[in-house]
Amino acid sequence: MTMIIGLGTLSQRRVLGALAASMLSLSVQAATLTRDNGAAVGDNQNSQTAGATGPVLLQDVQLIQKLQRFDRERIPERVVHARGTGAHGSFTVTDSLSDLTKAKVFAAGQVTPVFVRFSAVVHGNHSPETLRDPRGFATKFYTAEGNWDLVGNNFPTFFIRDAIKFPDMVHAFKPDPRTNLDDDSRRFDFFSHVPEATRTLTELYSNSGTPASYREMDGNGVHAYKLVNAKGEVHYVKFHWKSLQGINNLDPKQVVQVQGRDYSHMTHDLVTHINKGDFPKWDLYVQVLKPEDLAKFDFDPLDATKIWPGVPERKVGQMVLNRNPANVFQETEQVAMAPANLVPGIEPSEDRLLQGRVFSYADTQLYRLGANVLQLPINAPKVAVNNGNQDGAMNIGSTSTGVNYQPSRLMPREEPQGARYSQLALSGSTQQAKIQREQNFKQAGDLYRSFSQKERQDLIESFGGSLATTDDESKHIILSFLYKADPEYGTGVTKVAKGDLARVKALAAKLSD
Ligand code: HEM
Repeated sequence: MTMIIGLGTLSQRRVLGALAASMLSLSVQAATLTRDNGAAVGDNQNSQTAGATGPVLLQDVQLIQKLQRFDRERIPERVVHARGTGAHGSFTVTDSLSDLTKAKVFAAGQVTPVFVRFSAVVHGNHSPETLRDPRGFATKFYTAEGNWDLVGNNFPTFFIRDAIKFPDMVHAFKPDPRTNLDDDSRRFDFFSHVPEATRTLTELYSNSGTPASYREMDGNGVHAYKLVNAKGEVHYVKFHWKSLQGINNLDPKQVVQVQGRDYSHMTHDLVTHINKGDFPKWDLYVQVLKPEDLAKFDFDPLDATKIWPGVPERKVGQMVLNRNPANVFQETEQVAMAPANLVPGIEPSEDRLLQGRVFSYADTQLYRLGANVLQLPINAPKVAVNNGNQDGAMNIGSTSTGVNYQPSRLMPREEPQGARYSQLALSGSTQQAKIQREQNFKQAGDLYRSFSQKERQDLIESFGGSLATTDDESKHIILSFLYKADPEYGTGVTKVAKGDLARVKALAAKLSD
């Protein structure tokens, strides 16, 4: 404890000090110290040695076991979103969505326990939370019909629209493999080929890329999902969490000040507020489209690089976070949030990015946490699991039946009609082609123009500063994307990045809308 306190910042020391004091004030009755097999430990201070001056003995099981367990404390870190903080709470429906979905989680009066994990994306666990990044906002709903995970971000859009680009994008965002140093020029080399990223890059370099706290940011499901009602009717929806604490971001000067005194400002803020009973809340809203509405837009509404401007928001309910994890590793680190965790009545849309995610998360979690990841307490549904999946490493189940197959007369397991997937009419041939209705720049311009004068200036300085070191060609291509989005925006960033405005204008003139 002394060492941890010594390493922390002043504010962290205060929290730890308060925790230690509250622990000391309890009159604790000593329990017996044991090895992992439950046997008592006689001496945890001195290794067993051959006499007073001889070597340490291999038969000292306590010493060997303690070192073996310590040597295995780390599991693979999440490949992205490694730096995160979690909290428990509940979600209460205030306005039923039963007309749109048969999922009970949205039925009138339902209260569902949740676990939320907020995160940053690019850097490793314990990296500074002040770094510019999108923030993850992932919610596991332990519903009465199985677990549903809404794995979203604070930004309402994403950089790419096809899962096949995701590993390349993440490699470009991560530090240079030769030096382990951040390098903006690698990122912009990649993004100069990805005009659809322009809106989300604008979010990233705005002050939304450096939120003041997790409590004071919104969340977004980003993709369109499908809601299916009891009649089998399908609607497309986007989910949005709105913070009741308001939105608060750091500007570039504040980032430097905060990082100088606390590299965990977001975790610190959440833990402290929940500990003192000031529980953060978010309202959940949906935007709803009928399938026939999808064709009416001048962009593709199932493209994750787009918001749905002008589509009304309908309030659904409220989430409160009111309990910190008792053990960060067992809960926050071992939680497995996955877009594949769906319940009847909530389905993925045809969004190409979401389709890739439905595979990727469950897959990485089988590697990161093992075949029985969904048996861990933080991931286990609150309803019984009943199927023939079995065995695998670290199985902590309690299966007692011999009927590990289905169908069976000995032990019938029902397949309810209402749990079947909805159907989608299709025609045409397989293909590998871009989406139609790309519209890469319009919403980036709309976002820029929604900012105040100061927010625009902060964005221009932040983006221009990062672009300045990029190779000449990539830099001018990116600048042309910004100019195409909004001439004032492109001109401002060109000035800061020391680009050639005439060249930027010429490149922008060649871009289609
Ligand atoms: C095809 C695109 C994407 C792929 C392949 C992908 C892949 C991944 C992977 C492999 C993880 C680590 C999961 C784990 O180890 O438990 C992860 C975490 C995460 N991703 Fe994505 N991602 C994609 C796009 C997105 C998008 C569009 C969003 C937001 C809507 C998002 C939000 C998150 C969040 C919030 C986490 C952290 C979950 C947690 O806190 O445990 N990702 N992603």
